[in-house]
Amino acid sequence: MAQLLDGKALSEKLVAEISTKIATKSIELRAPHLAAILIGDHAPSKAYVNNKIKTCEKVGMASSLHSYSSDITEAELLNLIEKLNRDNTVDGILVQLPLPSHINSKRIIEAILPSKDVDGFHPLNIGNLAKGYDCFVPATPLGVTMLLDHYKIKTGGKHCVILGRSAIVGQPLSFLLARNGNPGNCTVTLCHSKTVNITHYTRQADILIAALGIPNFVKKEMVKPGAVVIDVGINRVEDLSKKAGYRLTGDVDFEAVQDIASWITPVPGGVGPMTIAALIFNTYKAWSERMM
Ligand SMILES: NC(=O)c1ccc[n+]([C@@H]2O[C@H](COP(=O)([O-])OP(=O)(O)OC[C@H]3O[C@@H](n4cnc5c(N)ncnc54)[C@H](OP(=O)(O)O)[C@@H]3O)[C@@H](O)[C@H]2O)c1
Repeated sequence: MAQLLDGKALSEKLVAEISTKIATKSIELRAPHLAAILIGDHAPSKAYVNNKIKTCEKVGMASSLHSYSSDITEAELLNLIEKLNRDNTVDGILVQLPLPSHINSKRIIEAILPSKDVDGFHPLNIGNLAKGYDCFVPATPLGVTMLLDHYKIKTGGKHCVILGRSAIVGQPLSFLLARNGNPGNCTVTLCHSKTVNITHYTRQADILIAALGIPNFVKKEMVKPGAVVIDVGINRVEDLSKKAGYRLTGDVDFEAVQDIASWITPVPGGVGPMTIAALIFNTYKAWSERMM
């Protein structure tokens, strides 16, 4: 039976450590400030942003929520970002994705000052990540590497298979795990929707990371016995026995896969809380660098 990679417990520990550092430093300095931009009333986006704001409060960071209806124009949103870029009391800016279809997300992300891009989505940060330079690493991939590091999962020389090549999860994870470092030094295979015979690859994985957005996609037969399985997926599936009418499930068939994996992340309580801890880490980093 697999051991749990407990993202909830680790994120609480990391967040408490950052909170102590902020309490010590912000006696002389102002507290770090995260500005969150939320457009429209997409329920999961609202829940993610509220969680991020709540965690800021918990660690002693200031936060501001800039919430607009989905008919905001691209020009108005660009003006808001420009204002936050110029505001010396703002350390980090995050724009919750997805944005409404009339807004060009690429243009919005590129408008954020790279030194305030705590989500690490700006091309300059992604480019620095690819080159192995210091940068803001996107929160979910950073959270995954924090989990591997904390649980002392050996990555060097291992075959890591990543399912999903999105710009915010799969692609940056492939850079992180292939780099010459620790965690890192994996041989990485990046699979996507055009990959033929995906099980051929997943069966070879010492470390298997699922980030597709398809509930229970990874079945027991697809996993090599003893593999480390990381489930990034967060999917809402109908469950009328729940008050909300749905429950959250990952991209991995947890019940079956836990029998043969060596380590596994639960959903919820795995990568999700680590993403928030990593965002808090990035905001702390942005603040520390601005205050130097
Ligand atoms: N835990 C967290 O904090 C966190 C953070 C972010 C996202 N997530 C979750 O992670 C999941 C992925 O998110 P995302 O934003 O990366 O998704 P995304 O942008 O939709 O990307 C999905 C990726 O999966 C690939 N894919 C889709 N169907 C496939 C199939 N049948 N076989 C192989 N590959 C397939 C796609 O391939 P193509 O490129 O070929 O289309 C794409 O690269 C979602 O459940 C999301 O909610 C969780």
